[in-house]
Amino acid sequence: MKIFGLIGFPLAHSFSQKYFSEKFIKEKIRDVVYQNFEIKHIDDLPALLDSYPDLNGLNVTIPYKEDVRKYIDNLDHSAEKVGAVNVIKILPDGSKIGFNSDYYGFRTSLETWISNSISKLKALVLGTGGAAKAVRIVLDDCNIPYSTVSRNIAKADYDYYELTENTDIIQDHRLIINTTPLGMYPNVNEAPHLPYELLNADFYLYDLIYNPETTLFLNKGREAGARIKNGLEMLELQAEKSWDIWNE
Ligand SMILES: NC(=O)c1ccc[n+]([C@@H]2O[C@H](COP(=O)([O-])OP(=O)(O)OC[C@H]3O[C@@H](n4cnc5c(N)ncnc54)[C@H](OP(=O)(O)O)[C@@H]3O)[C@@H](O)[C@H]2O)c1
Repeated sequence: MKIFGLIGFPLAHSFSQKYFSEKFIKEKIRDVVYQNFEIKHIDDLPALLDSYPDLNGLNVTIPYKEDVRKYIDNLDHSAEKVGAVNVIKILPDGSKIGFNSDYYGFRTSLETWISNSISKLKALVLGTGGAAKAVRIVLDDCNIPYSTVSRNIAKADYDYYELTENTDIIQDHRLIINTTPLGMYPNVNEAPHLPYELLNADFYLYDLIYNPETTLFLNKGREAGARIKNGLEMLELQAEKSWDIWNE
């Protein structure tokens, strides 16, 4: 029996266990199990690994994506550049390699979605948290120029006030990526503060949020004629990337 699992705290609402359990049934993958391991401190990881010698791989979620690096022997390009690990591959000799599958999930979904316009777009990244870091590294690697937006001007190129004051900024950035939690269930009536009236069919709005399916941000974009995409494909692609990493 091969064991895979998820470490984090708390894990009650996590997506991965349900996703992998359904995948194993649907694809008739036998002799594998995916378990949640809710650990209260990252330093509980070595004892967990000792207790489960058949553990082949782990996903890592909040709050350990950065702190887990001290237990990793090698980082791949994605984890090294993003500075966070959300997939661990455990080799037969016990050594551990860290990956960032959010990087792959976002990159693959973005490249497929905007493939025809990729060389013509400049991006605006809303928010400066963990997901924004992966997004920025993907944009760098895809040669898409970008500017950043924060509530705190010291952390980014613009704040939201400037976007409404200077309309040239929005006109110049036709790919707008929301990495803030604004609009996520249950706060579905919230949206980033943008001059939505300036949007039109030349714009692409990507929201990393997947619940609800259409956030207020995406809805306002769609009403203005923009193309829209939510975070569900990214989420599923990052889970599939974990599976590929563990099995390659
Ligand atoms: N689809 C996927 O696979 C996937 C993967 C990862 C994350 N996500 C989603 O991405 C979102 C962000 O995740 P994260 O881990 O990066 O979160 P995070 O670390 O909490 O960062 C979110 C950033 O959003 C900004 N922000 C927070 N509250 C805000 C508010 N009230 N108004 C305006 N801006 C606000 C902040 O930037 P400033 O302080 O600079 O304003 C913050 O750094 C979540 O909704 C998460 O579910 C989706």
